[in-house]
Amino acid sequence: MTQAATLADPLLAEVPLTEQDFARIVALVRSHSGIALSDSKRDLVYGRLRRRLRALRLDSFAAYLEVLEGPEGAEERVRMINAITTNLTGFFREAHHFEHLAQAVLPNLPRGQRRLRIWSAGCSSGEEPYTIAMTLRSAMPDLAGWDARILATDIDTDMVAHGEAGRYAADRAAAIPPQLRRTHTQAAGAEVEMGPELKSLISFLPLNLLEAWPMRGPFDAIFCRNVVIYFDKPTQRTLFDRFADMLCPGGHLFVGHSETLFRVSERFQHLGRTIYRKLR
Ligand SMILES: C[S@@+](CC[C@H](N)C(=O)[O-])C[C@H]1O[C@@H](n2cnc3c(N)ncnc32)[C@H](O)[C@@H]1O
Repeated sequence: MTQAATLADPLLAEVPLTEQDFARIVALVRSHSGIALSDSKRDLVYGRLRRRLRALRLDSFAAYLEVLEGPEGAEERVRMINAITTNLTGFFREAHHFEHLAQAVLPNLPRGQRRLRIWSAGCSSGEEPYTIAMTLRSAMPDLAGWDARILATDIDTDMVAHGEAGRYAADRAAAIPPQLRRTHTQAAGAEVEMGPELKSLISFLPLNLLEAWPMRGPFDAIFCRNVVIYFDKPTQRTLFDRFADMLCPGGHLFVGHSETLFRVSERFQHLGRTIYRKLR
């Protein structure tokens, strides 16, 4: 962009983000999503929200905050949270979790009721619940005889829509083992689309983990991976307590590689490698 263009259009010019405005944004993000933004996230916040200012043709963060906090702010608060979230994910990310699911969780389900519920909480663009669906399809040959459902939720409505569409760039789908890719996906132009036998297992739903949960559960397993790293400890404590309430006796909880329940929850037994089992 030329300097002339910048000077000609005030909407393209730099807009200062004052300490006070940054603090207000941090407080808003925390109260709506639980995401705790440190000072080191200042440039990230600036870059992502600057785009929202442009879209709304606003020339200051103070004006943007007025929109966010005003009576019509609900829709823009959703867009702000969508802009702030970090959605990094991938098929078969932390693959040992899916091995544990296939080898230790699924074979030991109570056979009598033939009911299976798994929750991908903070599912981002859907790679995690589709990986769970592929694991179920390949580890349970009798799946058709089960009442099996995967719930996939995220606060970011754009990510939920992406997951529901179930289409991914070919280089992302390359992380799916070839045999599963051949069986459960098909080419869709330059992209790869998840098969109907996977889609039919999953319900995508926008859901803020800090708010009330509409489902009753109980779940046999919950995947909440690489989500709570963005939350403070009291928020993590409350969340893990609610997850324990939502799990079946002995249900499994899978967390991200840098996350731990140590000194956060007493209600789980650590099985190793970020896999937990509900104790009470
Ligand atoms: C880094 S991604 C992790 C995706 C996936 N679980 C994985 O491990 O690959 C974190 C996700 O958590 C979501 N998230 C953040 N705060 C949330 C909240 N309060 N409620 C629900 N989802 C939230 C973000 O939108 C983002 O998609």
